[in-house]
Amino acid sequence: MGKKAEGVFIAEEDKKVFKLTVDGKETSVTEGTSVFDAVKKVGVELPAMCYHYSFSPFGSCGICLVEIEGKGNNVRSCTAKAADGMIVRTNTDKMIDARKKAVEKWLIIHPLDCPVCDADGKCELQDLTYDLGVYDIKKGVKKEVPEDTRSVVLDFNMERCILCGQCINICEEVQQIDALAFYKKDGKTLGGAHEGVPLDCEFCGDCLAVCPVGAITSRFSKYVYKPWQLKKTQTTCTYCSDGCQITLETEGEKVLRVTSQLSYLNKFGHEIERGDSHGGLCVRGRFGFQFVNSEKRLSRPLAKINDKQVEVPWFKVIPQIAKKLTDIKNQYGGNAIAGLISGRCTNEDVYLFQKIMRTLLGSNNIDTAARYGHINSVLAMQYALGIGKSTTSYKQITLSDVIFLVGSNITETNPVASLRIKEAKKRFGAKVIVSDPIQTKMMALSTHPLQVAIGAQAFLIRGMIKAIIDNKWAYQPFIEQYPAAYEVLCQSMFSISKEDIAQKCGIHWEKISEAAELFAKSKRGTLIWGEGIVSQTGGWDNMLSLIDLALLCGLLEKPGAGIHPVCEENNEQGAVDMGGVCEFLPGQIPYSDGKERFETIWNKPLPDGVGLSLPKIIEKALRGEIKALYIVGENPLATLPESMKVREAFEKIDLIICQDPFLTQTGQIADFVLPATTFAEKEGTFTNMEGEIRRVQKAIDPIGESRTDFKIFSDLSRQMGGEAYRSPEEITPEIDLSVPGYYAGERLQGDPSHPQAAGVVPPSSRLAHYLGNGFAEEVLKRYDKTGRGNPAPTMQLVLGQSIYHSGKLSTQDEGLMKIYNTPTLRISEADATELELKDADWVRVKSDQGSVELAMSILASLPKGIVWFPEHFATLKDLMKVEIDSKTDVPYFKSGPVSIKKVPLFDLKVV
Ligand code: SF4
Ligand code: SF4
Ligand code: SF4
Ligand code: FES
Repeated sequence: MGKKAEGVFIAEEDKKVFKLTVDGKETSVTEGTSVFDAVKKVGVELPAMCYHYSFSPFGSCGICLVEIEGKGNNVRSCTAKAADGMIVRTNTDKMIDARKKAVEKWLIIHPLDCPVCDADGKCELQDLTYDLGVYDIKKGVKKEVPEDTRSVVLDFNMERCILCGQCINICEEVQQIDALAFYKKDGKTLGGAHEGVPLDCEFCGDCLAVCPVGAITSRFSKYVYKPWQLKKTQTTCTYCSDGCQITLETEGEKVLRVTSQLSYLNKFGHEIERGDSHGGLCVRGRFGFQFVNSEKRLSRPLAKINDKQVEVPWFKVIPQIAKKLTDIKNQYGGNAIAGLISGRCTNEDVYLFQKIMRTLLGSNNIDTAARYGHINSVLAMQYALGIGKSTTSYKQITLSDVIFLVGSNITETNPVASLRIKEAKKRFGAKVIVSDPIQTKMMALSTHPLQVAIGAQAFLIRGMIKAIIDNKWAYQPFIEQYPAAYEVLCQSMFSISKEDIAQKCGIHWEKISEAAELFAKSKRGTLIWGEGIVSQTGGWDNMLSLIDLALLCGLLEKPGAGIHPVCEENNEQGAVDMGGVCEFLPGQIPYSDGKERFETIWNKPLPDGVGLSLPKIIEKALRGEIKALYIVGENPLATLPESMKVREAFEKIDLIICQDPFLTQTGQIADFVLPATTFAEKEGTFTNMEGEIRRVQKAIDPIGESRTDFKIFSDLSRQMGGEAYRSPEEITPEIDLSVPGYYAGERLQGDPSHPQAAGVVPPSSRLAHYLGNGFAEEVLKRYDKTGRGNPAPTMQLVLGQSIYHSGKLSTQDEGLMKIYNTPTLRISEADATELELKDADWVRVKSDQGSVELAMSILASLPKGIVWFPEHFATLKDLMKVEIDSKTDVPYFKSGPVSIKKVPLFDLKVV
């Protein structure tokens, strides 16, 4: 299939309007609308097997036929465009007959092995045969093609393929991966990976979802169900913060497969709100469900007795924990207690946890996974703008004219959200600027790639600001409203030359300046940033510089423009919103500002002073001053490098409670281990990275004796004299009172009444305060700080993300581990040549913290001087030295200097 032309954005109001008649009814549509969609507008549902809302019409199945006066019979309505004055007839005998004939044609080349087909009962060919009354089924012609079972996830049964092309189109146009094609073999047309090689792709499974028949099947769910036998529960994916809606399909207490809107809305041109989501999923959401029913799930509580963890019943363990916590509080005060809760817990879980910590245990030492980076975004945005989350939405991102993506490998961390950027470019003609030290997939697709030297992102942002100021491209209303702040920004750019910036970034000044001009002059520009800038040294400063850039480009005022932090875990944003960090009470209210109000709401005194973040909790534990630590769904021993001395700190704590569905490394040293459920067994809500509330619905009962986090907290609360709640629903009125309007954003995808859809965030009074108070001093100091530039002095190890995993949860999933379980150290071609390395060689990676030996492989997209390893696997994390942000306590350990040496075979120590 040839590549399709990239789209050009035409606003709806600028399109011509055509009037036409369908079956005698008048309708009007805008130019470019297909006849199929025009027909749909008058309420007629035409059958279709290759037309799909998510990609351009292909016109292969010949089912959607209509008569158009002057154009004759048998016009494929999906590829024909509506025109002014057109007269369309859909229901003539001739058309019905022609559609029947088309279905008969496909039945002849289809094996009719319905009894053993996974699509039986959810098959468009079956449905159309029935709907159109095709009762005389001719004997089919077998293609004699064996099923292709060579891929790790998807099987291709070409006997069943009706050559509709949907799998190829969705992969090429929506995913923009282009892994599939039709190819010829022995005179037959077959579909699958290009040229018939085994499929090795991102395994998003969108092709599986749109296949109208059972030609593509999942190996993880094969022959174990008939679609109508499965109970379907819509909930929210637990992996990343995109907040995709998924359907858990279960039999009894077992999840058998995951589907989404894309699997069910592909008939008769059904459509969902475009731009918001295409209704599909990524590999983790679709295939990473096996951890729910994993054999490794904990089913009974454990308590350490004589240094051994033994099973104990719930009725004993809750009173024991409550007593120990209360004793510690009474003896040492609440300050000796700390809590850590996962960004994968629901809003209701986090709210109740922090309430228990603050009101019953008298401790404000609370933290969550947002501390690993996202808190930099929230704190900086709050500090400067008074907003602690994205100011835009997926729909607005899709309709942006210029997108600047900084330090985010978004296709790997947030794959479905990344499709919004891909769609913006391909369908609507947006310009996409991508800045990263690594040639990410998004950089490869971008219009303006800025591959910056490692550690030089700050210089690049500064360069863009300098170009905007020097060329007077800044947003005029900002200059007029804040002349003094603008003057300061101008001054801060004097001390660095464009040559210096270009040299440090390793990018020609012209390219930086071109990107800056494009972004500054954008009408609906979007600035998106992620872990590559917030979880790296200088994260807080970088955030403030990004805010400067956003202000100079008018992104907080231009309608449709916005700024958007990418966070990784599904509910990192919600965890911060619910007061799961020491700085904030629920609603992101600074602790000292909200203490009195919450004392009234909760009717309990709260501890004095802001509590401790995770790094500070560890520091204090090392001094023996933390006596109890309650860890929920987090695993600091596996996440943080040894240089943070987590183990040493934890060994000094008298009481560690670890609540998790699995026995993690941290759980293994805990005094109590409480078996929690997964999201599939929970009710509640997550907040995605747009700030949208997404519902979590229980699909199965808790496995074994595991209990939901909420129930465990509620039982503990009751035991310690606090409130008990029977369900998360019971706490929502209190959350609504604490954070007015928090749930009001709850909506179906695509609801235009959502307040953010309007897209304009007025400059808040917070901004005026920020720009008027100490801004000059802070800015001049910040831009004066020196940073690392190009070339980096030594080889840099980067711990990055892989699409097949998310944090450490996915490594508990059998399915995802089947797809990707043997990470290698990735090395650039240039370094491999210099070090005389070839794929599968073993290398010794050495830092000042130690050394590790492992296998390597070449990654062509890496620049010289960077080696890469997926952070989901703990193999190399201990080589990293941690640096703690002095402002936000974010621990930076995602990159650092190492040396690489080939390990001769005879010298190899297998680890
Ligand atoms: S699984 Fe996704 S990436 Fe792979 S071929 Fe199908 S659509 Fe393309
Ligand atoms: S495999 Fe399925 S989606 Fe792909 S061309 Fe064949 S029938 Fe269509
Ligand atoms: S993009 Fe994120 S939320 Fe969506 S399916 Fe994938 S992991 Fe789940
Ligand atoms: S040809 Fe129009 S839906 Fe297939």
